[in-house]
Amino acid sequence: AYVVTENCIKCKYTDCVDVCPVDCFHEGPNFLVIDPGECIDCTLCVAECPANAIFAEDDVPVDQRQFIALNAELAKQWKVIVEKKAAPADADEWRDVKDKLRLLER
Ligand code: SF4
Ligand code: F3S
Repeated sequence: AYVVTENCIKCKYTDCVDVCPVDCFHEGPNFLVIDPGECIDCTLCVAECPANAIFAEDDVPVDQRQFIALNAELAKQWKVIVEKKAAPADADEWRDVKDKLRLLER
């Protein structure tokens, strides 16, 4: 499955949502996750993310590996999002900021 990683936190551009053929993105307050049980590895979402936050599970950077389990866990708790929506007003300011995991809202 594909995995949403740290750089999505507080950016949440949602461009990824529109291209997913199986609607496997789930939305939290300031982050999106992919349901690993639904993702069909089509790869389409990767190029859409302005924050480059999406990786194939095997390619998730070493310091982001915890996001694999986090996507699976939060996908069970959060509702599916099927359409792109406006990003947070300060999304661009948070792009590429490091150590955003502590800012994740559940
Ligand atoms: Fe959806 Fe394809 Fe991205 Fe998986 S790889 S989340 S199926 S767009
Ligand atoms: Fe997040 Fe990128 Fe989608 S910032 S909401 S993974 S387009």
